[in-house]
Amino acid sequence: MGLKPATNPDVEAVAIELSIDGESVAAKDGVSLYDVISSTGKIIPAMCYHYTFDPFGSCGMCLVMQEGKKAPVRSCTAKATAGMIIRTEGEDLFLARKKAVEKHLSVHPLDCPVCDADGHCELQDMAFQHGVTNLANAKQKFIPEDTRSPVLDFNMNRCIACAECINVCKDVLMIDALQFMKKGGFNQVVPKGDLALSCEFCGDCLAVCPVGAITNKFSKYLYKPWQIKKTTTTCNYCGDGCQMYLETKDAEVVRVTSPLSWKNKWGDRADTAKGHGGLCVRGRFGFEYIDSAARLKQPLLRKGNQLVETPWLETMHQVVDRFSEIRRKHGPDSIAGLITARCTNEELYLFQKLMRAGFRTNHLDSSARYGHLNFVHASRHALGIGRSPNDWEDLTKAKAVIIIGSNITETNPLTAVRIKEAIRVYKAQVVVIDSAITNMAKLASHPVLIKPGTEGLVIDGLVKATLGLDLIDEDSTKQHPKAFEALKSAVGHVSLEQVAAQTGMSVEALKEAATIFAEAPRSIILCAEGIVRQPDGYQNVLKLIDLAWITGKLGQPGCGVSTLTEEPNEQGAVDMGVAPEFLPGQASFNDQTARDRFAKAWDVTLPAADSGGSLVEILKRCRNGQIRALYVIGENPLATLPASMEVRAALDRLELLVVQDPFLTETARMAHAVLPACTSAEKDGTFTNLEGRVLRVREAMDPLGESLPDWHIMTALANALGCQWEYESSNDIQAEIMKLLPGYYNLGQPRQVVPTMDRYLSNNYAADVATRYRIPAPRGGKNQRPFVLLMGQILYHSGKMSTEAPGLIKIAPNAGRLRMNPQDMERLAVSEGTTVRVTSDQGSMQLAVQPDQAIAPQTCFFPEHFNEPPVKDLMSVQVDPTTGVPSFKRTCVTIEKA
Ligand code: SF4
Ligand code: SF4
Ligand code: SF4
Ligand code: FES
Repeated sequence: MGLKPATNPDVEAVAIELSIDGESVAAKDGVSLYDVISSTGKIIPAMCYHYTFDPFGSCGMCLVMQEGKKAPVRSCTAKATAGMIIRTEGEDLFLARKKAVEKHLSVHPLDCPVCDADGHCELQDMAFQHGVTNLANAKQKFIPEDTRSPVLDFNMNRCIACAECINVCKDVLMIDALQFMKKGGFNQVVPKGDLALSCEFCGDCLAVCPVGAITNKFSKYLYKPWQIKKTTTTCNYCGDGCQMYLETKDAEVVRVTSPLSWKNKWGDRADTAKGHGGLCVRGRFGFEYIDSAARLKQPLLRKGNQLVETPWLETMHQVVDRFSEIRRKHGPDSIAGLITARCTNEELYLFQKLMRAGFRTNHLDSSARYGHLNFVHASRHALGIGRSPNDWEDLTKAKAVIIIGSNITETNPLTAVRIKEAIRVYKAQVVVIDSAITNMAKLASHPVLIKPGTEGLVIDGLVKATLGLDLIDEDSTKQHPKAFEALKSAVGHVSLEQVAAQTGMSVEALKEAATIFAEAPRSIILCAEGIVRQPDGYQNVLKLIDLAWITGKLGQPGCGVSTLTEEPNEQGAVDMGVAPEFLPGQASFNDQTARDRFAKAWDVTLPAADSGGSLVEILKRCRNGQIRALYVIGENPLATLPASMEVRAALDRLELLVVQDPFLTETARMAHAVLPACTSAEKDGTFTNLEGRVLRVREAMDPLGESLPDWHIMTALANALGCQWEYESSNDIQAEIMKLLPGYYNLGQPRQVVPTMDRYLSNNYAADVATRYRIPAPRGGKNQRPFVLLMGQILYHSGKMSTEAPGLIKIAPNAGRLRMNPQDMERLAVSEGTTVRVTSDQGSMQLAVQPDQAIAPQTCFFPEHFNEPPVKDLMSVQVDPTTGVPSFKRTCVTIEKA
């Protein structure tokens, strides 16, 4: 259809004027006439139109009269042109639309009372608006419902063949899982090939279906729309920060919806660059953890060998007495704390304040340590900014994107949709460099499969190719000639042929990727788990920044080096100072001015500069008895970290382990006290997403049982320890943060960050860069283990939290199987379900295998969400010497038939 000129950032669409109902209206040439009409505030019926995808023009509702034409025109598929004279109202149009409604209703069952869409149905609304009562010739279709999908049911008796489901899946999501098929004399929507639906299960088709033809298995027959309370909040699964409506009935979450809806079909296509308002499978169908039967509803206190339900007061007395005694006897350094980046900003802020001002210790850390801090430290070091510089609009409108080390669809599915729009609408060149055959690689213009763990070497090759091909931006390099010389000398020894041999990315591909990136006017590098959660993550981000510097892609609009955050508030955790090296606002913990400011604000003496250990150091100190009490909020180190980190030994040695969590996790089972925390659906606050947007989290329901918000428990604990905190709500904490970090809450807009490299390039850059481009020796030797075992996230889960959501477990249960490339399986003479022995330097275990086309040859994969069998224990750990980030997601293994 191509109604897209207004969304092409390179071509300014011609401004035109046309007349609508006698008024002159300004518009852009070539956009949908329907959009122009709706931009004036006139809403004419449109049952098959949605502004997020190309018009289909089937329902016959959006009719208007165009001067010079005898018959009404479908305004959705008509392009606006200069001088058009349009009429949108009149008896003739009303009757024509009424006829269209009658046509649809004549083959539609009138089962409204038992339809999920009753009260939320465009066909119902249209019938009402047009007074359709005469259905004498109505006939039934009698099509059996398709209930084969784990999340959606398809009732094609109700389908009006508007194709919105097919179009959103194909045009917006580029998944293309649905089609029309003529069956039983009717055009029906069926999953491709008329097989059971096999897709990403995002539910966007459900969202746009204007009738009840697609229904949500998890909420069917549970409610009537008027019984539902709808709360706008932010998803708690990943750093994309999607806005969602949590719909509750009494104390039960019945469904999740989002701004993408047939009800919300009027908009400017260009706005989709900022997001299309949909959700992924986790956001839409992963809500059942909130009111799960497994939720903790009472505090638990260890009595003998057992955790026993105990009233809050008694539990808190015990906890406070034990903390106080340990502090008195062994000093504040004997206490440490860990918190999850699924907590709100306000809670993260309060946590570090409690540790520093309450306990007076600086041993604290968050799950941002698992990788995001590699990015933050590198970006701060080189550019002075501690987060990604690019937002969703930048990604959508980029002309070139290098995605390196990121299986983006699995970790950040809605950011992936931005890249898909960049590919489909804006025709971006996308280079995907990964050791897995990722979903994005299949859509990208330049998919490159590399050997696992060679991402750093690929970057060396890209920098070398950029220099060799003279793709240099002189404006950027000429201001720092010495730094540029130092970089050239640092990569002098790099040979593209050697890089190609070791990485699997050919010399031509390296040159092509370098050229695409350097020559595009808006180029972005997106790096994630394959860089930041791996050894040398910090150095590899610095190398990517080198590449962006010499090609002039730093500080330019729509350019930069960015990352993804897997948990919803990793950025917030860093910004709120939950790391021994940072105070709130990412001020250095050792910076005297900042220390004075916070000491004054909190009216305390802060722990000494340079004190405090991060995660790995904290666990080491627990093991050697220096740390005797550990406060863990929402983290589960026992289930997350490999056995070689000896977490159990560390926790065993503690005199006091207090775990605060909505669930009785593996770590909580070892605790002396377990405090029941509520989920983000039961509290207010904010998350900071990967773009740097601060987004509201809103209380949708009362806390379950006696669980409480984390901020509430921390406030009680702090006051019992002698602090005088007067927070009565998350807003009170927010007010304090606002005073200390002016501008942090920027009304949902990403705060502007301006990268500046001058200081870095003028100070010690030469020494810094000299050791960065080391070519590691190729893997070899007679003890070499031929396979690379990778652990990581899959689309249907997020950390361990999603495993508490039955809906997601239904879609993706723990198969307990090692995923392998089918060719490798053939070579090993194993088939699906065969048990193999997997051996790493850390140990050996037996498990069954399953084929997976997305797994590259000589690699194998196990989802990090599951510990049965405990594949994570095969991993060894490497700790980054600069950032303290532990990497434990990749190791070499031998695989043999058991
Ligand atoms: S659930 Fe999502 S991926 Fe699956 S068919 Fe619907 S729109 Fe497509
Ligand atoms: S299933 Fe719904 S969205 Fe899809 S064609 Fe039918 S009515 Fe339209
Ligand atoms: S993309 Fe992330 S934030 Fe958005 S719905 Fe999915 S898990 Fe939630
Ligand atoms: S909205 Fe135009 S034909 Fe359906």
